Amino acid sequence: MSTPHLPRSFLLACLFLRASLLAFSQGSVTDYAPITNISCPNVSSDPLIRTFTPQNQTLHPAEEAYIGTRESSVLPGAWSDWIGNGSDIGYNMSDFQGSLPKIGIAISGGGYRAALYGAGVLSGFDARVEAAKKAGTGGLLQVSSYLSALSGGSWLTGSVYFNNFPNITDMVYGNDELSGWILDLDLATPDGFDLFNDENQHFYGSIVWSVMAKAALAIDTSITDPWARMISYHFLNETSRDNFFTNDSAHGAGQIWSQMPDIPAFAQHQVPLPIIMADSRPIGDNSTGPLPPGPTVYEITPFEFGSWDPGLSAMMNLSFTGTHLLNGQPDNDTACVQRFDQAGFVMGTSASLFNQILDVATNTLNGFGEDGAGLLYVLSRQLQEVRTRADDVANWPNPFNGINPDTFEDSGSRWLELVDGSTNGENVPLGQLFVKARGLDVIVGVDASANDANNWPNGSSIIASQNRINTILNTSHQGFPPIPSTEEDFISTGVRQRPTFFGCNPTQTPPEYPILIYMPNSPPLTGDNPVTNTGTFKLSYTALHTQLFLEQTQQNTIGGFLADSNIPDPDFGKCVQCAAIDRARFRLSPAPARSDYCAQCFTHYCFDPSDPPSSDELPGRKLVFVDPQPTGFSKIEDLFKDHKAAWIGGGVALIFVLIGLIGFLIWWRKRKTYVENKRMSKILDDAVARRHLLDPSATDYESYEDYLKDTLSKEG
Ligand SMILES: *[C@@H]1O[C@H](CO)[C@@H](O)[C@H](O)[C@H]1NC(C)=O
Ligand SMILES: *[C@@H]1O[C@H](CO)[C@@H](O)[C@H](O)[C@H]1NC(C)=O
Ligand SMILES: *[C@@H]1O[C@H](CO)[C@@H](O)[C@H](O)[C@H]1NC(C)=O
Ligand SMILES: *[C@@H]1O[C@H](CO)[C@@H](O)[C@H](O)[C@H]1NC(C)=O
Ligand SMILES: *[C@@H]1O[C@H](CO)[C@@H](O)[C@H](O)[C@H]1NC(C)=O
Ligand SMILES: *[C@@H]1O[C@H](CO)[C@@H](O)[C@H](O)[C@H]1NC(C)=O
Ligand SMILES: *[C@@H]1O[C@H](CO)[C@@H](O)[C@H](O)[C@H]1NC(C)=O
Ligand SMILES: *[C@@H]1O[C@H](CO)[C@@H](O)[C@H](O)[C@H]1NC(C)=O
Ligand SMILES: *[C@@H]1O[C@H](CO)[C@@H](O)[C@H](O)[C@H]1NC(C)=O
Ligand SMILES: *[C@@H]1O[C@H](CO)[C@@H](O)[C@H](O)[C@H]1NC(C)=O
Ligand SMILES: *[C@@H]1O[C@H](CO)[C@@H](O)[C@H](O)[C@H]1NC(C)=O
Ligand SMILES: *[C@@H]1O[C@H](CO)[C@@H](O)[C@H](O)[C@H]1NC(C)=O
Repeated sequence: MSTPHLPRSFLLACLFLRASLLAFSQGSVTDYAPITNISCPNVSSDPLIRTFTPQNQTLHPAEEAYIGTRESSVLPGAWSDWIGNGSDIGYNMSDFQGSLPKIGIAISGGGYRAALYGAGVLSGFDARVEAAKKAGTGGLLQVSSYLSALSGGSWLTGSVYFNNFPNITDMVYGNDELSGWILDLDLATPDGFDLFNDENQHFYGSIVWSVMAKAALAIDTSITDPWARMISYHFLNETSRDNFFTNDSAHGAGQIWSQMPDIPAFAQHQVPLPIIMADSRPIGDNSTGPLPPGPTVYEITPFEFGSWDPGLSAMMNLSFTGTHLLNGQPDNDTACVQRFDQAGFVMGTSASLFNQILDVATNTLNGFGEDGAGLLYVLSRQLQEVRTRADDVANWPNPFNGINPDTFEDSGSRWLELVDGSTNGENVPLGQLFVKARGLDVIVGVDASANDANNWPNGSSIIASQNRINTILNTSHQGFPPIPSTEEDFISTGVRQRPTFFGCNPTQTPPEYPILIYMPNSPPLTGDNPVTNTGTFKLSYTALHTQLFLEQTQQNTIGGFLADSNIPDPDFGKCVQCAAIDRARFRLSPAPARSDYCAQCFTHYCFDPSDPPSSDELPGRKLVFVDPQPTGFSKIEDLFKDHKAAWIGGGVALIFVLIGLIGFLIWWRKRKTYVENKRMSKILDDAVARRHLLDPSATDYESYEDYLKDTLSKEG
């Protein structure tokens, strides 16, 4: 019997079906939309929020189970892989079984700079990286229980987890399966500054389409939403160079933070538990500057959204964020929302710094330079279509409406206004790791703050953390170890330019504070020209710059420092091991003495407030950024810098030439900025005029600025 002859149309239909299934499996950018009108769980038996007090705070059972399983099944092997039997640092590790310290790493904000700096530091602590393993630092990442992050650090963190925890090289540059960060395509203007060329228009079209899909469900959006989508193109895994300007991929839309537990490395407890931090602006405050320490600080784990701050002390089931709850009750049985916790939106929320830089009066995003136009343009298209309640913050429906009215400032509100996790001055998310219930012994602070004129940290974030923990959080959080008391002291003691251990010698058992291993972004210890102190709003990096950035960071991370020298400390890796294990001693009774080896390390790396170190011990550090791959204007400027000495040696005539050149360069730079600004406002004005042409019923504005002002004032 011959096989029946299938009609041609059937075959075609099959092909069509296959094609549409393929298309389906790749998702669509509209998967950014949450799902609304979902049946709610019976909140009497399965509550969506839990409340506690600073005195009886507990971890979510899923967090406790994750940390516990990792501790019993993964960490013993990781410790032994890292420290062996302990003899190299003077201990017998078998003495410490069952009392191994709990470790967390905190990664700061600071845009791409922070993401790259955090990546370089993680690489230096990664046992899978040969140089790190050899130096003895590689292994700290594997024994950690938590990884907290905010803003640019949250991009790194989201990327690491949603790419299934590859090593940093594979993640940043990509490999056969991963597409990498594609940092040379600018975040907001990927095809150059002409917003209206085809590729940029395709890109903005896809972004607006995503955001509209969410807004169509009557959920208030803001500038954070297009921002979140742009971040997803680089840090989630569905965007490659080939599909960047197409709709062939969901570009990370539909990847959900609460589904992170399904990722293989997470399911196998191979990774620390991530915590993302965001600040809040109290409703009605409307502040457009930095916030004081008071307003509630939120966190997002793969399980929960909420706050340990004593004023709120409540958490919500992350799968249901986007649902408004009043006293824990949904508006009705089908008022629940899911898939609001888009991975891109979580990263965008933590990095939502727009309340501080979106200047409605002048229609500018301060700090962003030309890139800002890309964001403003998308915002304007969004506002043509939808109403939003607050454009400059991340709008989250408030699940804590009605909770703790006496102490929680947004208890009376339907919405929360979340903003960049660094808005209150705490740019390294230490707070989440000091929560008492988490019981951490060792905290690694990875600080890429840009505090001084050369974009180096000056300790202000660490001081802000200490201040908030010692005052507002003194009932809910562990104590803070002694640190230099002012930014001036952070600078003069040199601890902002090399690794330092704080809190080495507690006065109580159990210790009143954890050890803090401070890893500030600092100039190369070798005395090389620094490339890691870039500006926060630098939104593209060449391949060469990326590579040098990661190399410098990794070298400083594994190199420690030797006093009065520019060579790395061969003992630094083992000194980190000493710091990591030290608290285990306090769990034994009687506590065994610190080994001689570790005591030596501590003399070198611990901060002793009564005998502070000096920055004089760190000779030859170069502070001024040197662009490794200058383009255009800065190239000429650098050439000039390099040859200045020779030229000046050439005599008076040359000096005149130089003065002329300098004058020309200054004029050129001003002129360039002026022309660029002019061009941008013309582009935006044209867009508004075109809008009127296409739709004569739309108001005809004189300029884009008038249009934006009017739109923003209408929606209040
Ligand atoms: C949700 O339900 C309400 C009323 O039951 C209805 O008006 C609305 O259109 C629904 N929305 C969606 C997106 O299904
Ligand atoms: C919800 O749970 C409560 C407590 O278990 C129970 O009394 C009630 O009947 C449940 N309601 C529904 C609609 O199932
Ligand atoms: C903590 O204490 C408060 C007030 O004493 C109580 O309402 C709450 O149920 C307790 N929570 C837990 C998790 O024990
Ligand atoms: C650790 O192992 C080395 C050899 O591998 C051995 O010499 C040493 O005694 C061991 N130390 C401890 C503390 O067990
Ligand atoms: C290390 O401790 C274990 C058990 O406490 C003991 O059996 C072993 O002999 C010790 N090793 C050394 C080298 O002291
Ligand atoms: C990262 O992992 C890849 C394998 O996926 C390996 O080839 C590469 O050498 C690793 N990079 C480093 C720096 O260890
Ligand atoms: C992206 O990552 C998710 C989660 O790990 C995975 O399910 C998906 O297959 C990945 N997609 C691509 C295109 O690699
Ligand atoms: C994706 O589709 C949207 C909506 O149709 C469109 O506006 C946008 O230009 C498209 N983008 C690309 C890259 O084709
Ligand atoms: C914040 O803005 C709202 C709406 O424009 C206004 O009602 C309120 O008074 C403002 N609050 C402050 C403190 O200015
Ligand atoms: C969230 O709620 C759903 C429904 O009650 C439940 O199945 C799930 O375990 C909850 N997740 C967390 C992290 O609490
Ligand atoms: C339930 O609440 C949602 C959200 O507030 C609302 O959109 C919807 O119309 C309500 N449905 C009914 C049937 O009242
Ligand atoms: C440290 O940085 C902060 C914030 O960036 C700045 O305001 C302060 O003036 C700096 N302190 C010193 C001593 O330079």
